[in-house]
This record gives sequence, structure tokens and C-alpha cells, in this order.
Amino acid sequence: MTAAIPAEADWDRAPGLLEGAMDLELTAADCNLRYWLQAVPQGTLRGRPDGHDPALEVGPHMLRGPFFEAITQEYAFRALAEEKATRVLSYLVPIAPDTDSMEFYATQVLDECRHAMVFRNHLLSLGIPRERLARAVEEFAAPHQDTVLAPLERRSLEIMRDRRDFIGGVVMMTIILEGALAPAAELSERKWRPLDPAAAEIDKGAGIDEIRHLTVGAAIARQYLLDRPREKDRVIELIHDGMRMWEELPTHDMVHWREVKFQEGLDRHGDLVGDYEIWPGRRLVDTTPEERQDTAERWSDEMKAKRLKYMGLAEALA
Ligand SMILES: [Fe+2]
Ligand SMILES: [Fe+2]
Repeated sequence: MTAAIPAEADWDRAPGLLEGAMDLELTAADCNLRYWLQAVPQGTLRGRPDGHDPALEVGPHMLRGPFFEAITQEYAFRALAEEKATRVLSYLVPIAPDTDSMEFYATQVLDECRHAMVFRNHLLSLGIPRERLARAVEEFAAPHQDTVLAPLERRSLEIMRDRRDFIGGVVMMTIILEGALAPAAELSERKWRPLDPAAAEIDKGAGIDEIRHLTVGAAIARQYLLDRPREKDRVIELIHDGMRMWEELPTHDMVHWREVKFQEGLDRHGDLVGDYEIWPGRRLVDTTPEERQDTAERWSDEMKAKRLKYMGLAEALA
């Protein structure tokens, strides 16, 4: 008999990323190694080793022109970001204070490594030859390597590897890095859905994992601070530093460029999306780059506020 797959990890029953990250409560004890083995390889990933249904193919409108430019730059950036997350996050495993959180972070390392793989390999479906793949990832992501990825990586290594600061690392991941990127991932899934369904499935699968990373990360931070209230001021300071750093990074311009390219594609291939609604009551063809970006930024603020309150860190919003 096969074990039941928990709803939050089930392909057909899982909530959306934003909804799941804001409304579910999962702890490291819930999501230990045993849970992961049954829920992820045998659940979420079943039949989708590349992150999507193998029958889905990429259409010719994606293989050149503005959609190609937008998605290759986005996916290369995300592949590199996930790869860096994998490497940095592995420093949390040896300093995790108990078995459940040690197991949970070991599974998250594997999840992030898999995300890097599926984002990177989608470039193959978009026509990049395998022998050029590693170089292509570097080239497409190059505009944001030094300005966005490198500073985030440096700060994360400083906290997790050099200072061996467990709670600092948890907060950096769950609030600054994954917390800030989740709404962009949700937007990506919604906007690529009618145009590149394989990409949308890759986003959806990564989003299911992300619900777990965000909720468990928040639960770990919450409990840690309940047990060690004297650490709270230090953690709030860390969050402020992280937020300030995020504000100074040119991520807004990066996302804006992608949305402008996406718009050019939409102007050319609007017939392909028909009446598809990006969110209830709003047709994708009627949206603008600014509207899509503003919406994702609003989701980001709402999510941050709700999650910080749950962690007992509402003061960090001031
Ligand atoms: Fe990830
Ligand atoms: Fe993650």
C-alpha cells in the first residue's frame, strides 16, 4: 500500500504559493526526512523528473524573439540563484540545533538543487545545445551576477558559514531571499501558463516546495524566538539590514526589463493567450508591465507583513 500524499505536496490538491505560504502552518517536526521521502519524490515529483509533464512541448513562439529573451534571462537568473541557495544553505545543516531541523534543511538543500536543475534544463527545451548550457546560463544571467546575486551570496555566507549563525541564516532565507522572491515566482507561473505550460509546471512544482520552505522556516524562527526572547532584538536588526540591502539591489529594474520583453511578446502573440485570466477578472492580454510588477510587489508586502507577525517579529515592519 502506498502512503497518502499530504494535500500541500500533492500536485492536484496543493494551494497556490502565496495562499499556502500565508495560511498553512508546518513545522520541522511535520516536515522531517520521512515526510519528505513520501511527500516529494513519491508525491509532488511523481512522473515529473524534469519538473513538468514530459508530454509538454515548447512552442515555436518561445524559441526566438521577446518571449525567448524574457524567459532565458529569467530562468538563467533563477537557475543560478537556486544553485547559490543550494551551496549556501548547506551550511545550515551542521549547525541545526536538533534532528528535525537538521533533517528539514538537508531536504531543502536537495529541493534547491533540484530547482537549479529544472530551471537550467528548461533552457535545453528552449533550444540551447547541451554542450553550451553552462556557458549560456552564465551569459544570460550575467547582467545580474555582480549586482544582485553576488552581494546576496556574500551576505548569506557571512551569516551561515563564517558566523555559524543558525537563526540568522533561517531569517535571511525565509524573509529576505525566499520571502522576497516568492511573489515573482507566482507571477511567473501565472503569466507563462498559456504560453509555455512546461515552464508554468516547473514554477508550480517549485512553488509547492517553496510553501514548505517558507512555512517551516517561519515556524523554526517563531519557536526559536519563543525559547530565546533575548535574541529578538538582534534578529530584528538582521532583518532590517537584509531589507535595506534588498532595497538597494537593482531587482526592480531586472524584473521590469523582463516584463517589458514579455509585453513585446504579448503584443506579437496575443492571439495565443485568448481570454486567459492572469488573476480573477483580469485578462492577461489587458495587463501592462507596470501592473504585473506592482501586483507582485503588493503580494510581497502583504506576505511579509503576515509572516513577520506570525514569527513574533511584527516590530521589524516599523
Ligand atoms: Fe528554490
Ligand atoms: Fe526554497
